[in-house]
Amino acid sequence: MKILALNSSPRKARGGTSLLLKTFLEGAKEAGAEIALLYVHDLKIKPCQGCFACWVKTPGICVQKDDMQDLLAKWQKADVLVLATPVFVDGMTSTMKAVLDRSIPLVQPFFEIRDDHCRHPLLHDRKPIKVVLVSVSGFTELDNFDPLLAHIKGFCKNLSGEFVGAILRPLGAQLEGFKRMGLPVDDIFDTIKQAGKELIQKGRINSKMQENISREIVPRVEYIKRLNAGFQQQIDANK
Ligand SMILES: Cc1cc2nc3c(=O)[nH]c(=O)nc-3n(C[C@H](O)[C@H](O)[C@H](O)COP(=O)(O)O)c2cc1C
Repeated sequence: MKILALNSSPRKARGGTSLLLKTFLEGAKEAGAEIALLYVHDLKIKPCQGCFACWVKTPGICVQKDDMQDLLAKWQKADVLVLATPVFVDGMTSTMKAVLDRSIPLVQPFFEIRDDHCRHPLLHDRKPIKVVLVSVSGFTELDNFDPLLAHIKGFCKNLSGEFVGAILRPLGAQLEGFKRMGLPVDDIFDTIKQAGKELIQKGRINSKMQENISREIVPRVEYIKRLNAGFQQQIDANK
């Protein structure tokens, strides 16, 4: 199974998004997946101009020449698309949104009714791509992912993708710090890796895994107290 993984965290390999994604892909690789990983922040992808030339003038081809051509070629060859993004103001990063907007050359301009919804058929004959969301948040509750999750599920319906699961971790960027403090987090990494394996072996991720992946590590009141003290220290140090 071929995976195209897109990491849109501007902190790239240093961020919490990467930590989760790396662990998830390790599991998938062990189960035999072939993986291509792109850091969206390194790519030149301009926003969609909304000209519809990719529909009516040069079907399937965008007039803007940038890194999106190569990305779409990889997308077309992939069985699985892993979209990895931190929560930025209750959604995905703007760079990830640009990628999704620029994917409309993959569909036809014509409308059809599918599952009682108005949709566009795919341009090329292919199996629906499986889509996984990997995300981290700075807030502590799991429901901070709700708008992003709804968006990705909507994107799958819109662009004929098959949503096959999500790895969502509040305070994902803090996991290594928690580990250094001696707090037990290995089970979380193990479950994320297992989810990567399951994706390849069963074609989807068991949603029950999410409960363990997002479990509380430090009571939130205690965490917020420590976090605020840390920010105050940084502000004072910069005075
Ligand atoms: C511009 C910006 C907006 C953010 N908005 C949210 C938000 O709405 N909800 C949230 O839980 N975290 C929010 N965060 C926190 C990030 O999700 C968090 O820092 C995450 O760890 C960043 O991912 P990274 O570690 O891969 O860089 C925001 C961070 C930034 C920089």
